[in-house]
Amino acid sequence: MILPIYIYGHPVLRAENVVVAPDSPKLQEIIENMKETMYHTQGIGIAAPQVGVNARIVYIDVNVLAEDFPELKDVRMLLINPEITVDETAPEVTREEGCLSVPGIHENVSRHEKIHLHWQDEQFQEHDQDIEGYLARVVQHECDHLEKTLFVDRISPIRKQLIRNKLNNMVKGKFSCDYRCKIAPHNRKK
Ligand code: NI
Repeated sequence: MILPIYIYGHPVLRAENVVVAPDSPKLQEIIENMKETMYHTQGIGIAAPQVGVNARIVYIDVNVLAEDFPELKDVRMLLINPEITVDETAPEVTREEGCLSVPGIHENVSRHEKIHLHWQDEQFQEHDQDIEGYLARVVQHECDHLEKTLFVDRISPIRKQLIRNKLNNMVKGKFSCDYRCKIAPHNRKK
């Protein structure tokens, strides 16, 4: 089922996300809905809170970027309880990002170029992988959602100031996008 995307300003994006266990209710259904919603909205990654579920689940499919980044061909990852470790001394790279929950805004974000990722798959098998480049960026962006962080929290103060009106309007539901959205309940536009 295609679910609405929860938008900047909705409290679900700032709520605690629970660790997922094999007996977590409706786990398979949540995963299927996340995938369906992400493909429908043409995203390359989605985190469970973006569809209103406060659980530590991320789905990534970056295959559409394979033309620019050959290493992303057929890269699809379902991450349950992902944990990132970074070498804080390693260089960061800056690149433009966007987010299904922040429609119409694209800003430069600085991220670690290399990360180490630990996660569980749908069968709760443990995985460890060193990840770098664009995929490392997508993983960090999505895992940020699980820590209640959005990419606009990471942009420079001057840029944040420049998009403040847009963000304030977004909270009130004044924005356009071509998929179904959900804004904070008390902020519906009159
Ligand atoms: Ni996002």
